[in-house]
Amino acid sequence: MEKDNLEKIIIVDYGSQVTQLIARKVREIGVYSEIINFNQAKSLKKNKYIKGIILSGGPLTITKSKSLDLPQNILNLNKPILGICYGHQILAKKLGGKIKKSKTREFGYAKIKSNFKSPLTKNFFLNKKNSVWMSHQDIVYKIPKGFKKIASTQNSKFAIISNELKKYYGVQFHPEVTHTKNGKTIIKNFVRHICKTKKMWNLKKQKDLIISEIKNRVKDQRVICALSGGVDSTVVAFLIKKAIGKKLQCVFINNGLLRKKEENEVLKNFKRNFKSNLKYIDASRIFLTKLKNITDPEAKRKIIGKLFIKLFEKKAKKFKFLAQGTLYPDVIESKSVTGSPSSKIKSHHNVGGLPKKMKLSLIEPLKKLFKDEVRKLGKSLGIPKGILHRHPFPGPGLAIRIPGKITKYKINILKEADFIFIDELKKSNLYKKIWQAYVALLPLKTVGVMGDSRTYEYTCMLRAVISEDGMTADFFNFEKSFIQKVSNRITNSVKGINRVVYDVTSKPPSTIELE
Ligand code: XMP
Repeated sequence: MEKDNLEKIIIVDYGSQVTQLIARKVREIGVYSEIINFNQAKSLKKNKYIKGIILSGGPLTITKSKSLDLPQNILNLNKPILGICYGHQILAKKLGGKIKKSKTREFGYAKIKSNFKSPLTKNFFLNKKNSVWMSHQDIVYKIPKGFKKIASTQNSKFAIISNELKKYYGVQFHPEVTHTKNGKTIIKNFVRHICKTKKMWNLKKQKDLIISEIKNRVKDQRVICALSGGVDSTVVAFLIKKAIGKKLQCVFINNGLLRKKEENEVLKNFKRNFKSNLKYIDASRIFLTKLKNITDPEAKRKIIGKLFIKLFEKKAKKFKFLAQGTLYPDVIESKSVTGSPSSKIKSHHNVGGLPKKMKLSLIEPLKKLFKDEVRKLGKSLGIPKGILHRHPFPGPGLAIRIPGKITKYKINILKEADFIFIDELKKSNLYKKIWQAYVALLPLKTVGVMGDSRTYEYTCMLRAVISEDGMTADFFNFEKSFIQKVSNRITNSVKGINRVVYDVTSKPPSTIELE
């Protein structure tokens, strides 16, 4: 499988949190895409397989001196270009348009009105109007020669512009996010019809490409794989086994921060489905000792990440590579996947928590994929449904669901409460409808009354969200009777918890986990 001989769309990453969503939309349309950073863009050469260029959004401000521009050689490729948000502004600026800081920030939904027809907007507008997702302060206030206005919003006169002759397009909003209604139509029009690509990319090709990339990198070396029992690390283990067979060694570390009975279940599943070497390490005592009295979320993440690697390095003297199930949302919230200037939100373990000097080289074959894509990949590898549809569980485990100090007592009561919530979700057929659900133990004790006695115990928080990719999420709307049942069962059977609350925030502004 040679990716160099595939028709492709090049995405230049200016550091947006959602650049991979552009790549994902292009993949869904059936076309291969590659994301490159600004420095790679500066040296991009002509190639018959490059069919078009998309310029991403980014956190930089074009009206400030330290902004990145559009490299001349991108224009010299003579290919169609679609600029998104920041990409729209640099395209306009490079070609002679004018940009300024707007008095009003445009953030969130905006109504967009069609002014002229364009191949880019075919089937995009519903009755000449649509709702799009904006996130910017600078605006294009004068368009370059040869361009025309295709659509506008209240705050962006030039919300869509085009030069049909050159096939250059700019959109101020984000067509790649689900909040933009019909956004995928814009990307499809550009990729399939304007860039004239054929539908050649599919799940099988993606699987073959990942396997051949692992083979080429690993050669005859051995790989150690960090297994957690969840969908991501299981898919990674299956892919690596297909690539190198017996040279794969799986290791499952119990960090003492797993859910109730989880270690038994993982070991049972592994034996049943995956006939390969597995080493089980019970390191719960050492993790909990290192986390004693630590309250800072980033410190917790870094301690857990470092300890994981230390244990691995100890067990992995004969290995050169460490494989992990890192996904794109984990990477982007820690740092940009291409080295472009995106903002850091939190250090996801697997990524930001890793020590700078590490003896093992990392293999992260899912680094550019989203959860649902990994599930589809897993299905095509024959992984059982029960594993594929497990809710995501973060590497640092229950540690980031216990804000404040972590103690054995808190972990134990949290495990019980979490088990009850998930059990009730399954009994009510809600588990599959929800993207992720869990219980957190808040650092808050309050007074309650049970029988005729006063209690002074912890508060737990239920969290349940629906999401497509973990990048944005909405809280799930439960019936009162369901919440009541869970609350009663927890307070009646978990000694140590006398109050249950439900988190009704979405992401953004919150994140899915508490820390
Ligand atoms: P947040 O809290 O950032 O979570 O909205 C988004 C998704 O990522 C999971 N998550 C992690 N997964 N290592 C992981 O493997 C981590 O350090 C980590 N932190 C968060 C989280 O459970 C949610 O599904």
